[in-house]
Amino acid sequence: MTQMPGLLDTEAIRKDFPLLDRVVHDGKKIVYLDNAATSQKPRQVLDALNEYYEQHNANVHRGVHVLAEEATALYEGARDKVAAFINAPSRDEVIFTKNASESLNLVANMLGWADEPYRVDRETEIVITEMEHHSNIVPWQLLSQRTGAKLKWFGITDDGRLDLSNIDEVITEQTKIVSFTLVSNIMGTINPVETIIRRAQEVGALVCIDASQAAPHMVLDVQALQADFVAFTGHKMCGPTGIGVLWGRQELLEDLPPFLGGGEMIETVSMHSSTYAPAPHKFEAGTPPIAQAVGLGAAVDYLASIGMDNIAAHEHAITEYAVKRLLEVPDLRIIGPSTAEDRGATLSFTLGDIHPHDVGQVLDEQGIAVRVGHHCARPVCLRYGIPATTRASFYLYSTPAEVDTLVEGLEHVRNFFG
Ligand code: ALA
Repeated sequence: MTQMPGLLDTEAIRKDFPLLDRVVHDGKKIVYLDNAATSQKPRQVLDALNEYYEQHNANVHRGVHVLAEEATALYEGARDKVAAFINAPSRDEVIFTKNASESLNLVANMLGWADEPYRVDRETEIVITEMEHHSNIVPWQLLSQRTGAKLKWFGITDDGRLDLSNIDEVITEQTKIVSFTLVSNIMGTINPVETIIRRAQEVGALVCIDASQAAPHMVLDVQALQADFVAFTGHKMCGPTGIGVLWGRQELLEDLPPFLGGGEMIETVSMHSSTYAPAPHKFEAGTPPIAQAVGLGAAVDYLASIGMDNIAAHEHAITEYAVKRLLEVPDLRIIGPSTAEDRGATLSFTLGDIHPHDVGQVLDEQGIAVRVGHHCARPVCLRYGIPATTRASFYLYSTPAEVDTLVEGLEHVRNFFG
């Protein structure tokens, strides 16, 4: 194998990730290729979590004691770090949630309870796509059922791209919100954001982007994107579970109503009514995920220290190699784009008529961790007439040698079932 341009120094990077040294099944070193489900965590993040609990643990925003002040500074400091990481114009536009699903549900519910001009009702339309994760389908189905708004979507082409040929019929003057994924969690497709946003802006619709599979892998600049809301999760980008982000444009966050009520999100409360704190606190009812936010702050520091452009270049090189090698495997069909252009490092495939669960199990026996199933994107499987896929997804610590191990593993699967 020749040296590939763009690769990171994975030997050094892998030293930061203790889990990558795990040995499973009697001596097989783990080959972790399930990064679209969750990433592994570098020691810098694990240390930040430990230090928070060992030295600073307290509740935020409500104490006068030293620990409460430290915890608040760390929690709010994490907000500053995330705001800088996504180039948010204001730190007050960064809302902490528990995951991307909660962020997307929050947007749907803000709109569901909003007055004009944001009101969603039976005269209006909601637009999504067929390649969404369930977390960007179900909240909009619920909103549509509750309000009578019509739910519409873009279909997918045979090669795993969004079919935008009827964009003017899908996004119309009635469209209130267009919500779509930047990168598909099942096929890795990178979607043409600008084309969709341009059309949405023409008709005055809001745009919400699910960036769960983008934020860990590429520069995410919310000002350049020009969307109204951007949702992502911490655990796929080297952070802990239990922390997500919703970025929203400040004037929208000021205008739109809260969803969850409780402590911390109010200004005053009487027995008759309440007034609300300004954003982001208006949308953060109750004790927030403090340690998790601190961990996410450490994660974005870590990713920024490597450089998101460098991570994207590394993953592009790995993807190019993986596509080439996988297409050499007889009977393997890539579900999604079968070139490395405009795609991320997530590759779904089928292998002849061997069920993906069998593929996954035989790979696991060799220490190779992939995900099998519909990947919470069942409409994509229905579109291609398959029950499930096997999905390999790479990250900044993935190596060409791991691609080779996967391909050898698949040969073994074929022999086993052949
Ligand atoms: N959303 C995660 C995935 O796509 C769990 O695997």
